[in-house]
Amino acid sequence: MTGPAREPGNVNGGAPDRVPALRITGATKRFGAVVALDSVDVAVSHGEVLALLGDNGAGKSTLIKCISGVHRFDAGTVELDGTVVELGSPAAARAAGIETVYQDLALFDNLDPAANFYAGREDAGPAWLPRGLRFLRRRAMADATTEVLGRLQVGLPDQRAGVGLLSGGQRQAIAVARAAAFASSIVILDEPTAALGLRESRQVLDLILRLRDEGRAVIVVSHAMDHVMEIADRAVIMRRGRKVGEVVPTPEHQQTIVSLIIGGA
Ligand SMILES: Nc1ncnc2c1ncn2[C@@H]1O[C@H](COP(=O)(O)OP(=O)(O)OP(=O)(O)O)[C@@H](O)[C@H]1O
Ligand SMILES: [Mg+2]
Repeated sequence: MTGPAREPGNVNGGAPDRVPALRITGATKRFGAVVALDSVDVAVSHGEVLALLGDNGAGKSTLIKCISGVHRFDAGTVELDGTVVELGSPAAARAAGIETVYQDLALFDNLDPAANFYAGREDAGPAWLPRGLRFLRRRAMADATTEVLGRLQVGLPDQRAGVGLLSGGQRQAIAVARAAAFASSIVILDEPTAALGLRESRQVLDLILRLRDEGRAVIVVSHAMDHVMEIADRAVIMRRGRKVGEVVPTPEHQQTIVSLIIGGA
């Protein structure tokens, strides 16, 4: 089932005739005998939030991990802004402007937000830098982190504290903000509000909407139908590795979506 694209409400649009930020065609991935992805076609535009829906094991995380360079498709093509690319590693995906917040988000509890922001990035500077220089670099990192968190309206009680002391929502907000800060083009979020309270979910959902309004293409995996209906312009439904539908997630389509997710309706 296909619905018209919901008015995305910003200049970058999500209109079908535009070249999408990301287009996946014929994505196939097997793990031994398991066909995790079977010829899946998905596209998302700049300034659009696409929800990936499906039951446990439907292939959502596998699709995301292939786009993020963690896994490689066995078959299929990836186009970014109309150009075919190879996303052979997480570094290649990042270099292409794609940032991902994984289902099991990786933050270092003992490090403060700025150190978490820059973990694994060359920007942090080599460890052999003289002490004084390293200090300057750290201050620049902290300033940049404060700037990004402020721009995305993420409030933290103490910028210097290790993130292990923060709440689940604050941690999630940092992970999303980190992705937002470094993604020039596409932000992918796997279950960004799972296990979050109402207020914390609100913070993350607002972040996602702000990313969209800034013109980023956003892909969100979520089992929370109310969140999907609020933030997503379009929903792709997967079942057992196949794409089984594409629906505008509105309350009147909710029953259709549920039927597509569980199948046999
Ligand atoms: N690294 C792996 N090795 C082997 N099989 C895998 C691997 N990753 C995923 N699978 C299998 O691929 C299928 C799709 O899994 P995937 O994690 O993509 O599902 P999902 O839609 O993200 O589910 P959930 O909602 O539970 O997170 C499942 O059958 C799973 O067991
Ligand atoms: Mg998953």
